[in-house]
Amino acid sequence: MEVLVLPTSADVARRAAEVVLEGLAAARGAGPVLGLATGSSPLGLYAELAGAVRAGRLDLSAATGFALDEYVGLPAGHPQTYREVLLREVCAPLGLAPERLHVPDGSGRTEQELVAAAAEYERLITEAGGVDVQILGIGANGHLGFNEPGSSLSSRTRVKRLSDRTRHDNARFFDGPDDVPTHCVTQGLGTVLDARRLVLVASGPTKAAAIAAALEGPLSASCPASVLQWHPDATAVLDEAAATQLRNRDYYDASAAGL
Ligand code: F6R
Repeated sequence: MEVLVLPTSADVARRAAEVVLEGLAAARGAGPVLGLATGSSPLGLYAELAGAVRAGRLDLSAATGFALDEYVGLPAGHPQTYREVLLREVCAPLGLAPERLHVPDGSGRTEQELVAAAAEYERLITEAGGVDVQILGIGANGHLGFNEPGSSLSSRTRVKRLSDRTRHDNARFFDGPDDVPTHCVTQGLGTVLDARRLVLVASGPTKAAAIAAALEGPLSASCPASVLQWHPDATAVLDEAAATQLRNRDYYDASAAGL
């Protein structure tokens, strides 16, 4: 696991974009497969990748994208569905074809329909040859995707209840907390671990405790993002504020300085 700490969130976006570009350059097959997080954390990174597209350093015209998660129960086309968010933030600026953007289907009305949609999502990821580079954010409670504390470390895509903390944190995207859906369909932690490279970005003091637990705490379902420790090619790119509770900071900085 590599931990890179940079002065500002703008530096985080730039450096994380380089790590993503490296991973995509190493991708095999016809087109790279990119795993996409939503929320505030990756927006700067997506803007950097859009800059790379404009500069001719990145071509996603043959790429496939897989979202980490989707809310259950929002009407199709609602601006806060993760499909709409990714169409705005990734497909348009990065040139990823909308028909190759896959998002878990949260429109099912029964548990059976949602379970079937989750299984279909796993099948699509496998059919695409797996995810080359998975972009990740982290919840203030340590969630990864929408795998809330208590999630099985080997879980696959499935329906999950959102925690009160997550619904409260995401209320800023809605008219109020009660409008935030109660459930989601999320890739499981086992699904995320199957990606060939993981790139987690985190900025700001509200993420400091979760980052310390994820990177230096025990590998535990109580902090789902701690599965990063289990992955052979995971990089966490943090700003100073998100890194304040790390104990091994000196070691990370020395390692980042190279041989
Ligand atoms: C989003 C996702 C979540 C977010 C996390 C952080 O697809 O899966 O894990 O990455 O909730 O959200 P922000 O970045 O808004 O703080």
